[in-house]
Amino acid sequence: MRAGRDLLSAEDLSAQELMKLFSLADRLKGKRTDALKSKNIVMIFQKPSTRTKVSFEVAISHLGGNAISLNWNELQLGRGETVEDTAKVLERYADAIIARVFSHGDLEKMAAAASIPVINALSDMEHPCQAVADLYTIRQRKKKFSGLRIAFLGDCKNNTFRSLALAAGKLSMNAVFSCPADYRPDMAGAEIEENPMNAVKDADVIYTDTFVSMGDEAEKDRHLADLAPYRLTSAIVRSAKKGAIVMHPLPAHRGVEIDSEAMDGKNSAVFDQAENRLHTEKAILKFLLG
Ligand code: CP
Ligand code: NVA
Repeated sequence: MRAGRDLLSAEDLSAQELMKLFSLADRLKGKRTDALKSKNIVMIFQKPSTRTKVSFEVAISHLGGNAISLNWNELQLGRGETVEDTAKVLERYADAIIARVFSHGDLEKMAAAASIPVINALSDMEHPCQAVADLYTIRQRKKKFSGLRIAFLGDCKNNTFRSLALAAGKLSMNAVFSCPADYRPDMAGAEIEENPMNAVKDADVIYTDTFVSMGDEAEKDRHLADLAPYRLTSAIVRSAKKGAIVMHPLPAHRGVEIDSEAMDGKNSAVFDQAENRLHTEKAILKFLLG
């Protein structure tokens, strides 16, 4: 990720850039600056959002910029204007676009059409801003990355898992995926362990996400039935390495992919993860636009 460029995928970030984002987040945490003074940032949401929308708006405000948040359907996009034409117009007014979309291809079209940075606020393929916050949370708790092991439980093909696994690999972390055959990640050489108890045995981090991502609603019943054995329970937490942390990007479905005991237990980092979205998004914005 070069300054002035896009952030569409966790692949866009080198290990060095990730470390730079973490130190920027440390510096900006709790601070107000004018790094984005006079800058306008358009945020477009094609799906619901609590954390991403609010944390980005607050991050922009802390950096002295102006956020314009819009739903897809209140823009002419909802009536069929192309993403390319929309991007070419928005770059005449604004300094960056942050977009949450169904199709990752739409982000690529936006980024190709616009000269201003485009930031992925979640697509069907990736959730890179979540991955940056997740790694920052792991750094807070474990003080290192190299050699740590993350166990992913559940829908291992999804956006959150893909971005975090890509970014964690750059920092020399190891990943193991625990899921049925149809839910395996499409990453060459991924380590798979179908039994979740075995998967978490040597894990420093146990990570889950919703079993039914936004856009997968038609597959809901199948996903819930197939993934039920991979629920993050307190028994799973007890099977992991002592001190292993529990992570989830939220929103959680308590009793479905994660039990309240695990989510509210002493090893849970889930609300720190949510908080860290704010600190790391300030870093991302400063890095790309400041
Ligand atoms: N984790 C996350 O992206 O949450 P929202 O869907 O609420 O933005
Ligand atoms: N995988 C989830 C993440 C939500 C933040 C989804 O796409 O719905």
